[in-house]
Amino acid sequence: MKINPSEHENDVENLRVQALVNLEQGAVTPGYSANLDEVLYYLNEALATELVCVLRYRSHHFMARGIHAKGIAQEFLVHASEELIHADMIAARIVQLGGEPNFSPDGLNARSHVEFTASKTLAEMIRENLIAERIAIDSYRDLIQYLANDDPTTSRMLKEILATEEAHADELADWLDDFPATNVSEIFSK
Ligand SMILES: [Fe+2]
Ligand SMILES: [Fe+2]
Repeated sequence: MKINPSEHENDVENLRVQALVNLEQGAVTPGYSANLDEVLYYLNEALATELVCVLRYRSHHFMARGIHAKGIAQEFLVHASEELIHADMIAARIVQLGGEPNFSPDGLNARSHVEFTASKTLAEMIRENLIAERIAIDSYRDLIQYLANDDPTTSRMLKEILATEEAHADELADWLDDFPATNVSEIFSK
């Protein structure tokens, strides 16, 4: 590509003028092409989903019982911490986009795409967590597709979170295999 110096100067000048429009909107410049209200709504749903995951994994960490439980209970805590990191990342991005992260317990379940389940057995816990991870994976994939190229920063963040959810799901599926009496097909035929 050949750069024409006078045209380039005009482009840079235009960027400077644009940057001054709605200066108070911070990171949201006139070039932001996504629908901001919708993005903030979806990000708050993702935040609620992560918060419910934090609560479910923490609950499972403390409630896990049985001979297989020790290592897995410890890993539930690791997952809980990673979900909390995701919640923080999403909340920070909402603020950067000029929105307000919704941490209210009122309506948390309704905003979340996944459910809080206080499962009784370790196999049930693994199953419930795997279901939640798979829902989160599809939700993030949909959101990334929805954003397309309109908000590359949010997209990049969501792709990073998605990669961790896929690793979580993979780990949970491996643990299910370790339960001879409750292998994947048996658990899912319940
Ligand atoms: Fe997460
Ligand atoms: Fe996860």
